[in-house]
Amino acid sequence: MDEQRREHPALQVVGLTKRFGGLTAVDNVDMEVYPGEVVGLIGDNGAGKSTLIKMISGVYRPDGGKIFLEGQETTFVSPLEARRLGVETIYQDLALCENLDATANIFLGREPMRRSLGLLKAVDRKHMLAESRSVLDRLDIHIPDLSRPIREMSGGQRQAVAIARAVYWNARLMIMDEPTAALGVPEQRKVLHLVHTLREQNVPVIIISHNLQDVFAVADRVVVMRRGKKVAERPIQETTMDELVSLMVGGSLLEE
Ligand SMILES: Nc1ncnc2c1ncn2[C@@H]1O[C@H](COP(=O)(O)OP(=O)(O)O)[C@@H](O)[C@H]1O
Ligand SMILES: [Mg+2]
Repeated sequence: MDEQRREHPALQVVGLTKRFGGLTAVDNVDMEVYPGEVVGLIGDNGAGKSTLIKMISGVYRPDGGKIFLEGQETTFVSPLEARRLGVETIYQDLALCENLDATANIFLGREPMRRSLGLLKAVDRKHMLAESRSVLDRLDIHIPDLSRPIREMSGGQRQAVAIARAVYWNARLMIMDEPTAALGVPEQRKVLHLVHTLREQNVPVIIISHNLQDVFAVADRVVVMRRGKKVAERPIQETTMDELVSLMVGGSLLEE
């Protein structure tokens, strides 16, 4: 870990702030994520977790603060641009195209072209299929029929396709907002296993979860938000469920 700290953070945000009318949803948050690190982002409902990651993934423009990717200041104007620069995000409602199949989703917006009839360019579907199959095999993801539309797949398979896309394109950062919320237990395990795989491939991960067991299972470090502010951060070995819960809800439970 000390070795990693000497590298540039894969992601650094400084003073990130987002307001919705009179509400400061994210208030002056600083955070870093290092290569190969899994950071759990936790907090009660409404703490500002999703808003924070939406600024990092190009959905919202911050009202204040800066975002650095591998040391370089970055401003994304759209989620697509963020993805082109290597920030892959899985939202609660997923960033896949329902009507497209797994292969098309892995290559979405980055389809390889081949010449056809010498002049016309066409999408190289054969290449895409072979490449998809190979990355899915490498991650031990079983999707028998790659031509089925995503909408017919299980929640876990969808997550797996999004993760495969991140690995295939060498994402610089994978952000997952409640990735296991809608999944059955075996699929939750699979997704958490894939988070470990991402770390092995040195892809840093931010994972939002209200399930603290999941956070303990995968995170190296945890960042706690409350009412828009970052209130604590801990290496996972140096904290407990009880401490995290009281940080999430504030002193109130203890004071009463
Ligand atoms: N698009 C929006 N417009 C207005 N308020 C919003 C919007 N998105 C989030 N909020 C508010 O900002 C706060 C933080 O929300 P959010 O980031 O979704 O929290 P979390 O993901 O931690 O549950 C909440 O009070 C929420 O109601
Ligand atoms: Mg949220």
